[in-house]
Amino acid sequence: MEKRLAGKVAIVTGGGTGIGQGIAIRLGSEGARVIVDYIGDPAGAEQTRQAIVQAGGEAHIQAADITVCQDIENLVDTAWQTYGSADILVNNAGMEHKSNFWDTTEAEYDKILSVNLRGPFFLTQKFVQKLRAAQRPGRIVNISSVHEDMAFPGFATYCTSKGGLRMLMRNLAVELGPLGITVNNVAPGAIATPINKSLLADQPKLDALLKNIPLGRLGKPEDVAGLVAFLVSEDAAYVNGATYVIDGGLMRSYHEQ
Ligand code: BGC
Repeated sequence: MEKRLAGKVAIVTGGGTGIGQGIAIRLGSEGARVIVDYIGDPAGAEQTRQAIVQAGGEAHIQAADITVCQDIENLVDTAWQTYGSADILVNNAGMEHKSNFWDTTEAEYDKILSVNLRGPFFLTQKFVQKLRAAQRPGRIVNISSVHEDMAFPGFATYCTSKGGLRMLMRNLAVELGPLGITVNNVAPGAIATPINKSLLADQPKLDALLKNIPLGRLGKPEDVAGLVAFLVSEDAAYVNGATYVIDGGLMRSYHEQ
């Protein structure tokens, strides 16, 4: 594979599973040295690391809970201590929870917002502080969702967090552009990953969703990873403040029955 990212160091949150795993492997295969962040089970992160090594790359595994500021600091410090820099940040870790708006608890709200929005906010802050002090450019990509724009009944917390991530990206594109740091969002539609476990197990629901996807299939983590690799490469040097939707056409699809 072309080594577009040789000499770069990338942090990928939630790198042990799903979309994050695909992204970490792709960035590593393109020559970036990767800090694979995970929480909980280290086996997935180890799988990611091995795949990167197999592709001729380098990776370091770091457990960090992005809802804890001390963990966030350690994560960025680890990149600088291990590889001498952190040039690329992929805010990928995220979660969703289904509940009717009127039943949603404070604890559910706090959990989703702190993983999907507060975590990226403070991790990005720490990432930027280090780059700014070193006067180095950088790349930030947030893995958002089509639901940064599109309603998703039963997922008000998720939509609130992703809508917030959209505005955070826009604001930071303007605020960090002068530092040579670009900020963009990638907005996946339905990708076959553990976040969609219950959907994947429910054939009628899955069939209904597939009818709304013009390409007729769910996305794969590798589909998303290719787009992220582009956005953090020199090929995207002039892309800043944009959301790239990757959903097989889902957002544009409407059918009269
Ligand atoms: C959500 C999935 C959903 C998809 C399309 C994603 O952001 O995580 O649960 O199926 O959007 O609606």
